[in-house]
Amino acid sequence: MQKLSFCIYGENTMSNPFFYGNEVSGEDFCDRTDELDELKKDAGAGLNVLLYAPRRLGKTSLLRKLQTQLEQSGQYTVVFFDFFSISSVDEFIQRYFNAVAQSFDTVPDKVLNFMKSVLKLRPNIIVTMGQSGELSYGLSITKRERESTLEDVLNLPNLYAKAKKAKVVVIFDEFQEIEQFDLEKKFRSVIQTHGRQVSYLFSGSKKSILKRMFHDSSRAFYKSVKHMHIGEISLEEWILFVQGKFERTGKKVGVKHIREAFGITQGFPYYMQQLMFEVWNETAEVVDEAILQNAVRVMCEREYDLYSYIWSDLTINQRKTLKYIIINDGKNLYANEQLGDAGLTASTLKSTLDGLLKKDICDRKNDRYYLVDPLMSYWVRHYMISEHSLP
Ligand SMILES: Nc1ncnc2c1ncn2[C@@H]1O[C@H](COP(=O)(O)OP(=O)(O)OP(=O)(O)O)[C@@H](O)[C@H]1O
Ligand SMILES: [Mg+2]
Repeated sequence: MQKLSFCIYGENTMSNPFFYGNEVSGEDFCDRTDELDELKKDAGAGLNVLLYAPRRLGKTSLLRKLQTQLEQSGQYTVVFFDFFSISSVDEFIQRYFNAVAQSFDTVPDKVLNFMKSVLKLRPNIIVTMGQSGELSYGLSITKRERESTLEDVLNLPNLYAKAKKAKVVVIFDEFQEIEQFDLEKKFRSVIQTHGRQVSYLFSGSKKSILKRMFHDSSRAFYKSVKHMHIGEISLEEWILFVQGKFERTGKKVGVKHIREAFGITQGFPYYMQQLMFEVWNETAEVVDEAILQNAVRVMCEREYDLYSYIWSDLTINQRKTLKYIIINDGKNLYANEQLGDAGLTASTLKSTLDGLLKKDICDRKNDRYYLVDPLMSYWVRHYMISEHSLP
């Protein structure tokens, strides 16, 4: 999403200081210092880490920031790879090779010499230049060479670390997508031979798939990584971030309204930014309650199609269960006398909850169930449940 929004008050045209959509950096990036410190220590120790969080919680932004900081330290070579757009093993080989090659050096001759010195096969390396002058690397391989080339390419970070006495960090974003390509065993068998000089960071948003991959004893990645969950950004950090942006653009917002916004978005970065974007647009000088409420309504309307789509895809019992969770704040669901009133039995509740957990619509923390997406929770509460059902 591009930053094209402008707000015109009188003769002043100022661009909105909030941004939501793709990854953020620089002034758009708030906090995450503890997470960055922990990830840097893990990289230093050569640990492999699984980082998971729901959609839109800021995983990619955090990983990119980590990459920048590690590279700036001069002690690491970082490979960043996003699995999301991969649709075949061949595509993986090509794109991963390119990502690895680009991270090794900016001088193509050096990259080519290194590749030729370490690759067992003598594949034809193709270097192409894009429209804006960026180089990309590819391999011309036959079907017969595919398996061994895959292994060679997976081994490249380790070969580089050894040859250059360097520390390499390989970041795989949206790693759960690997499940579709039958690559897990190969992947694991190759990277487990890489020593402490190479550390792998796997990140993803589909908790149910990642849980299967990393917790199931029959799977290749079983107990092979440190688990790290990232959560929302704290209220204190948001207050500094939001007030700073309002002040720098000549406007004011009180702590009370930031706290209220935090309650609705539960500190999810994407929604905090989206809500503040709308609030800023509507504010001439000082934020008031009416502006905030209107911005929440606008935000819900923007997401209406998405939530209606998810809602229409749910079974009747799943819809009843989501309402039941919200009405009871996710607690004591089986013990609750209202189970019958909600039109559910204990056994249907169990199977429905299992289904919702599998779909990553719900999650559970300390015996409390909740909707993973806080704005969807708000939407169901305000648009799908009649007033008198709510406590
Ligand atoms: N540290 C942060 N500070 C401020 N805003 C953030 C931060 N991290 C994320 N955001 C907000 O959330 C949006 C989504 O961020 P990002 O793409 O990094 O999340 P993600 O978890 O990778 O999302 P997805 O699951 O869709 O891949 C950003 O456009 C920005 O508005
Ligand atoms: Mg992402």
